[in-house]
Amino acid sequence: MAGETQKVIVLTGASGGIGQALAREFAGPGIYFALIARDQARLDALLKEIRALGADGEISAVDIRDRDALHGYLSDLDKRHPLDLVIANAGVTAGLGPDRTRESDADSDRQIDVNYRGVVNTISGVVDGMQKRRKGQLVLISSLAGMRALPDMPSYSGSKAALIGYGHSLRGWLKPFGVSVTIICPGFVTSPMSARHKGAKPFEMPASKAAMLMRRAIERRKPFYAFPFLLAWGIRLQNLLPTRIGDLFMGGFEVTIDQDPRYREGTDK
Ligand SMILES: NC(=O)c1ccc[n+]([C@@H]2O[C@H](COP(=O)([O-])OP(=O)(O)OC[C@H]3O[C@@H](n4cnc5c(N)ncnc54)[C@H](OP(=O)(O)O)[C@@H]3O)[C@@H](O)[C@H]2O)c1
Repeated sequence: MAGETQKVIVLTGASGGIGQALAREFAGPGIYFALIARDQARLDALLKEIRALGADGEISAVDIRDRDALHGYLSDLDKRHPLDLVIANAGVTAGLGPDRTRESDADSDRQIDVNYRGVVNTISGVVDGMQKRRKGQLVLISSLAGMRALPDMPSYSGSKAALIGYGHSLRGWLKPFGVSVTIICPGFVTSPMSARHKGAKPFEMPASKAAMLMRRAIERRKPFYAFPFLLAWGIRLQNLLPTRIGDLFMGGFEVTIDQDPRYREGTDK
């Protein structure tokens, strides 16, 4: 049970590489987690691990695309354990079709539905309570690909850019209500997602290190945090150039993305 002095954290995408690392990074006495993803066995194992680290919590195997199910769970959770911090981290990737043909409709829809609509579903399921209490923090996990689109990942890049716009808007709206918003744009982080990413991954870092950097940014309530430093600043400078010139720097970033084993090719199942 979460007590008065406990900090309650909702973490989506908790079964994945970055999600698990974030849970381990935040775990400790006084932390109560709601761990969300679809893979119940992985969530169970993670809950055991974070309990061994002194935290407590619960799991929910809900698909964040299912707004009714997600809102039902989050509203019940908020009544039992008023939420302090929500990290919307769940996400999926896919690349172009065979021989650099267009993305399949299923891949494109899934990325928009999970990476953007799923995050909107997560935030809309928790924001009323925070706004009323005038307290809380929302964290959106976007990507450097949202700051400068990767040519081989159109829907992924678009969905992550949309999250940045959504997050900036939330921040302005919610500031007078005492609710802070942190947008995080990671670069390449070792995880099952990045293992399917075949191509250059400059400055790739272990998920544990990324989680440590993300925790620091979250605790400082940074409005926007992009890392690693050199890649993030390289992109910022690139974005100041005329687009045609900036595009010349994208040459080394050609990638293919292996099929996500959770979905049959060209389908959403
Ligand atoms: N790894 C990188 O290099 C990198 C770089 C920049 C940004 N990011 C972002 O960081 C976040 C985490 O990525 P990761 O590398 O940890 O990927 P990952 O290992 O593939 O984990 C993705 C997580 O999202 C969850 N998820 C996917 N679809 C879901 C759905 N419909 N409902 C609920 N949960 C769902 C997965 O859980 P289930 O399959 O169990 O549902 C899993 O827990 C993503 O948003 C990603 O875009 C990653």
